[in-house]
Amino acid sequence: MNSPVMQGLQLNTPSFVKNAKLIAWVADMAALCKPDRIHWCDGSQEEYDQLCQKLVDAGTFRKLNPAKRPGSFLAWSDPSDVARVEDRTFICSHKKEDAGPTNNWMAPAEMRATLQPLFDGCMRGRTMYVVPFSMGPLGSPIAHIGIELSDSAYVAVNMRIMTRMGKAVYEVLGVDGEFVPCVHTVGAPLEPGEKDQTSWPCNKTKYIVHYPETREIWSYGSGYGGNALLGKKCFALRIASTMGRDEGWLAEHMLILGVTSPEGKKYHVAAAFPSACGKTNFAMLIPPKAFEGWKVTTIGDDIAWIKPGADGKLRAINPEAGYFGVAPGTNYQTNPNCMASLDRDVIFTNVALTDDGDVWWEGMGDAPAHAIDWQGKDWTPAIAKETGAKAAHPNARFTVAATNNPALDSAWDDPAGVAIDAFIFGGRRATTVPLITEANNWVEGVYMAATMGSETTAAIIGQQGVVRRDPFAMIAFAGYNMSDYFQHWLDVGRRLQAMGAKLPRIYTSNWFRKDENGKFVWPGYGENMRVLKWMIDRIEGRAKGKSHAFGVSPRYEEINWNGLDFNATQFDKVIDIDRAAWQKELQLHQELFQQLEYHLPQELKQTKAEIEKRFAA
Ligand code: OXD
Ligand code: MN
Repeated sequence: MNSPVMQGLQLNTPSFVKNAKLIAWVADMAALCKPDRIHWCDGSQEEYDQLCQKLVDAGTFRKLNPAKRPGSFLAWSDPSDVARVEDRTFICSHKKEDAGPTNNWMAPAEMRATLQPLFDGCMRGRTMYVVPFSMGPLGSPIAHIGIELSDSAYVAVNMRIMTRMGKAVYEVLGVDGEFVPCVHTVGAPLEPGEKDQTSWPCNKTKYIVHYPETREIWSYGSGYGGNALLGKKCFALRIASTMGRDEGWLAEHMLILGVTSPEGKKYHVAAAFPSACGKTNFAMLIPPKAFEGWKVTTIGDDIAWIKPGADGKLRAINPEAGYFGVAPGTNYQTNPNCMASLDRDVIFTNVALTDDGDVWWEGMGDAPAHAIDWQGKDWTPAIAKETGAKAAHPNARFTVAATNNPALDSAWDDPAGVAIDAFIFGGRRATTVPLITEANNWVEGVYMAATMGSETTAAIIGQQGVVRRDPFAMIAFAGYNMSDYFQHWLDVGRRLQAMGAKLPRIYTSNWFRKDENGKFVWPGYGENMRVLKWMIDRIEGRAKGKSHAFGVSPRYEEINWNGLDFNATQFDKVIDIDRAAWQKELQLHQELFQQLEYHLPQELKQTKAEIEKRFAA
């Protein structure tokens, strides 16, 4: 393969890269970004180790005590670069209406003109990593390939964990295969001879930009999570949702789990919860003792790509290969499988460093007498009490391979995916929304998902704890007009029904109801198995449930309470429908519908009218 030289920069294309479009694009981007070097990642262990060492030398990584956390590292980000930046995230479709009222929009030409000077020379003094990755099992008909160009070694090593990254991707890509081009820079070029002043270079100007029509991603200024690991939210949700709309499939913010009964019957559930609302915990749930013989296994913890099969079943894959989970709150009680996953080969970001070279975060267990907090300062329980200082940032994360998970489903890597039996849409709501409700039918299920609300969490920069509508938990991730997205869900259901297929049931859940003292009523975590079992009983026609204006919820006696002290009065607190609260809730649905009026499906308006009528009856 030829190796063009640009202003002294060698493209150094390896012989195993044969895709002409890719080579030309890398050359163009190198000419624009002007890195000092280009490194074509091969995804090998040696390369990973070398890059981690480089990050250690640069002060970005600390190697953790190998006796405590073998193969693991800790990074602390710049305090200004700690979460996704939704207000800096743009969908640049030609028409503003195609991005819709829930997305920031700029015309593609205007955005390109804005980004051009920012990207010009943005990688000076740095290495441009060419990161080839497959979202989904390599070569699966459901999978797609992306190439991320990044000037961050931290991104390259995280991408190796989070995706199927490496040389084999080039083989699948071949000479003329398609890929989604993703360009990322921390936006901190160095003058000749200049050294980084900081171990987390970034820029206070940030742009996370998607061009859905040309399927491109450009990210500027941040090195953190979903802003920088472009396979995740940018590709697997925002760009993939537009691909799904065009091609008849679904890209969703959903975990996928398998649940196997003692008789060996297996069900698959895909569940959408907003960011930092316990998706990883639910995907790794360990059933309580009373459910002996039941097993829950993880296919994915954050994203599902779901395609209708020829048999009318919806088949789902997890496009990712690792977990980028929220650490605070995770412990051996709440999520033992997750804690076991974190035993080795983990990249931690923004958790605290203990004196014995291990990590700690709020909610992990007994606090150490002393630690260094995520901002590099001394931390003790006394300091925390006095100043409120957190040892770990509330959005501190771990990056770990799915294969570390002891509850990994044997089909997690199956190119054919798994057939979905039920969808759950769950918000974080202190009031109003019951523990679990089954929709009367697909359209009402789409209505439930479309009107879902949730209190915001630390996964997003900005105000926390306020209820915002988060349709399908996709408010931040739909790559096109939200009303068209609802229509797409209705169309997928209609098409499958026309094929005579049995559609998955749709449920809405809320693990987060609080009592008059502000305490959570429902114990959550492993106890959610009791709800999962009720859903299966519904699917199998074993539970009649109780109909109400919004759908069907369990009767107290339909849940297996063995081993849990939870009386009917407590149950009432998590399941009741308060008419006055629902009047207000329906007004909020109306406000959402007004916001989404353009292209809002008529069927959803009709459903709302029917629900209102039922409440009035
Ligand atoms: C995530 C998120 O990181 O939703 O998964 O923010
Ligand atoms: Mn997520």
